Amino acid sequence: MSVNIAIDGTAGSGKGTIAKRLALELGFFCLDTGAIYRSVAYAVVNAKINLENEEEIKQLIQNLDFKVVFEKDADGKQVQKNILNGEDLGQKIRTEEISEASSNVAQLPFVREFATKIQHEIAKNFNVIVEGRDIGTVVLPNANFKFFLTASVEVRADRRLKQLNLPQERFNDVLKEIKERDYRDMNRAISPLKIADDAIYVDNSNQTLEETISYILSFIKI
Ligand code: DC
Repeated sequence: MSVNIAIDGTAGSGKGTIAKRLALELGFFCLDTGAIYRSVAYAVVNAKINLENEEEIKQLIQNLDFKVVFEKDADGKQVQKNILNGEDLGQKIRTEEISEASSNVAQLPFVREFATKIQHEIAKNFNVIVEGRDIGTVVLPNANFKFFLTASVEVRADRRLKQLNLPQERFNDVLKEIKERDYRDMNRAISPLKIADDAIYVDNSNQTLEETISYILSFIKI
């Protein structure tokens, strides 16, 4: 039986970086589930389908040639490749346009079904850290370990500011964006971001990355 670790959390909580590091420490794969929603969004945008046109999106999904594969990069690190029609999408799914579109398509039940099926398949076959928003609650309710990561909105805004190399004057704008994203993530009709009853809650506002990683690892006994 494969071992599954679910990591959910708020935007800017560092869950992506933390999930990748944990995977490295444990020798697991790391599945970035947001990348699946981003890839679907890319396919929709690329096919010039209006984001409101659920019928056309549904048809596109039915015939979508998409898969997630794991490969070793030059440093021997496992990396996730998101392959659409045989092409590795790479950074094409990381633009602002695709971020926006992915948050729209992620609301559609048949898109969530499509993404969840891929996640189940990978979780069944591999020891994997699955990082997202509905992993411990919906996708893998029986995961071996579940964590919910967050930090105060101020700390997350500050991290984002540094990450994007923005001046201090932009702090309030970034703070507002993070609050709005929290609201959207937590209040959408299906699979909203919420803490699974049996998840370990990690507020890393006052922790360094290394401290958070050690803290999480202290719970994982395999
Ligand atoms: O984590 P991210 O920014 O790459 O996610 C892209 C979008 O996908 C985001 O708007 C939320 C959505 N998403 C989701 O609904 N469920 C997940 N498990 C992961 C991401």
